[in-house]
Amino acid sequence: MNIIDRTSYAVKHAEVYLPKEFHTAWDNPKLVRLMGNELTFSPSQEIRQAILSVTDKLNYYPEDIATNEKIREKIAEYVGKPMTSANITIGNGSIELIDLVYKTFLCPGDEVLVPTPEYSLYFKYPPLYGAKVIDVLPDKDDFNYSTESFLKLITDKTKLIVASNPNNPVGTLLSRDTVQRLCETEKLILIDEAYIEFSNTSLYDLISTYPNLIILRTLSKAIGLAGIRFGYCLANPEIIEYMNRVRLIMNSSVIAQAVAMVALNHRDYIQETIKKIIENRNYLNSELQNIPEFKVYPSHANYVLIGCAKTGITATEFFEKLLQRGYLIRRFAKSRGFPGDEHFRISIGTSDEMKGVIREIHSILQEKAVASISTV
Ligand SMILES: Cc1ncc(COP(=O)(O)O)c(C=O)c1O
Repeated sequence: MNIIDRTSYAVKHAEVYLPKEFHTAWDNPKLVRLMGNELTFSPSQEIRQAILSVTDKLNYYPEDIATNEKIREKIAEYVGKPMTSANITIGNGSIELIDLVYKTFLCPGDEVLVPTPEYSLYFKYPPLYGAKVIDVLPDKDDFNYSTESFLKLITDKTKLIVASNPNNPVGTLLSRDTVQRLCETEKLILIDEAYIEFSNTSLYDLISTYPNLIILRTLSKAIGLAGIRFGYCLANPEIIEYMNRVRLIMNSSVIAQAVAMVALNHRDYIQETIKKIIENRNYLNSELQNIPEFKVYPSHANYVLIGCAKTGITATEFFEKLLQRGYLIRRFAKSRGFPGDEHFRISIGTSDEMKGVIREIHSILQEKAVASISTV
């Protein structure tokens, strides 16, 4: 019996995605998790309390986001005016929202422009809808993208331009002017602000001017609740209505909604966390800059990308040696936008974790120096 012939168009254009580093991390709880740009601090007492407050209601279905105006109002208040509950829909993490934007707008033959390197999931889903990803290449090897680098690739087939801002994995920002000029092309523009709290340069205010601008946010990064799976989308009410038409109902659990209500109220706690992460980012950055063989990319997010070509050690070797020493990082070897094996990314954790990873990087460099001397 041939099952594959009976599958949908989407199945024939997809592969199972296996995020191996997350498996390694859950399998080895003692590892320091610096691979996924999560917050490594445990959730606050208030979050634990919020979860406990709904445990006796878990026999009930959650309210759908389309009718739960309270939670959308809470998000609007957190983001700021002129956002209102009508500008918001919610996803089971912003990953679901990336797919939902594609599902809402992409048709066979459409093209989606994506800077390269970028967050890998932007590339995974367009083929499921018959659309093609066109890579936008950086101007130089600094991974900065000019307005022109996008504009020159726009054709009649271009439906959507997608970019994370700050960019994951590089940490760079698109300028406000670039995003405005892209919006003026009247193509749909999806800006993923997963890490925006670390740079404080949100572009959500442009939504009132540009009805084609869609912004994604998440509770997974600065708010430290990746396990809850809660992302939100900001756009004009017409776009939100279309997204809600094809969104799965009840895609946000009773626990996720209760936690989000509490988390978004704790502005002081969030600000305190962001401050700590930025301090630890500055520390990691300056320690890495002191290693002359490294190319360190200035980051506006909670991670730092490092080029290691000049060390004579590959990114995969750094990954493996750090893993043996108890630190799990992310390497980019022969991945889209990184044809070599010479870039790795470290997420920002606690001050002790940053000191520890720096100590181990020095020990790896030292080991290599000793090995080179003994082979002379
Ligand atoms: C740019 C970007 N967008 C979205 C996500 C996924 O976020 P969420 O946990 O909200 O699904 C990530 C996760 O690493 C990311 O880097």
